[in-house]
Amino acid sequence: MSTGVAVEAANLHRQFGAKVVLRDLNFHAEPGEFVVIVGRSGCGKSTLLRLLAGIDRAERGSIQISGEVLIGLCSSARMVFQDGRLLPWLRVGDNVALGLPKDNDGRVRDMLDRVGLADRIRDWPAILSGGQKQRVALARALAANPGLLLLDEPLGSLDALTRLEMQGLIESLWHQSGATTILVTHDVEEAVALADRIVLLKRGHAEDEWLVDLPRPRDRSNPAFSGLVQSVLGHVMEV
Ligand SMILES: Nc1ncnc2c1ncn2[C@@H]1O[C@H](COP(=O)(O)OP(=O)(O)OP(=O)(O)O)[C@@H](O)[C@H]1O
Ligand SMILES: [Mg+2]
Repeated sequence: MSTGVAVEAANLHRQFGAKVVLRDLNFHAEPGEFVVIVGRSGCGKSTLLRLLAGIDRAERGSIQISGEVLIGLCSSARMVFQDGRLLPWLRVGDNVALGLPKDNDGRVRDMLDRVGLADRIRDWPAILSGGQKQRVALARALAANPGLLLLDEPLGSLDALTRLEMQGLIESLWHQSGATTILVTHDVEEAVALADRIVLLKRGHAEDEWLVDLPRPRDRSNPAFSGLVQSVLGHVMEV
């Protein structure tokens, strides 16, 4: 189990040409917290995740990871994208082993086992289904025990049933790993199902947030669940 890091971003400003995407954005996550970021397409969710991962830099503002100012790549972070981004020329097991020290066979098997794909270790990514590819991407991201797991719409391309199954998997992987987890999604129901706290990104900053104080795993038939979904949705849609 890793120790989840604390994330503290202050006054982030990021623009592309004349287009300001993030302005004076403040964001934080507690160690081990599951934060879900929602917001309309183009509001800057992926931009924020890239800044936290250290693969892009803000013009102004600062990011601290467990109290240390982030310069360059965030060594404690691993990211999963919507399309998985497995390397097609490496078998499943070798994809998971990327970035691990040599002699890691046990770890690779263990991770694939946790995502239910231990028997696919020798397969090529091309023959996996979309959901299986995302399972491998999650196994790869968590293999090195990251303190920070960044998930950019990892279930965006999956059908509704597979999404539900994968949400359960993400919740249990988060629980087992202890990693601070920041998930971006368009799906407000997914946000309420998974988050300790939901942050709404709008007009370049964190405009609203909701603590999700419901027992896990979340019961979607609970009126409090659907009430919160409606409330968040209303704020997301409001111009
Ligand atoms: N490298 C870049 N160069 C120019 N513009 C960019 C770049 N990256 C992002 N943008 C712009 O910044 C804005 C925010 O993009 P971003 O990808 O962060 O949105 P998003 O909230 O993740 O949207 P979606 O939900 O559709 O994925 C968009 O208008 C996008 O066109
Ligand atoms: Mg995006």
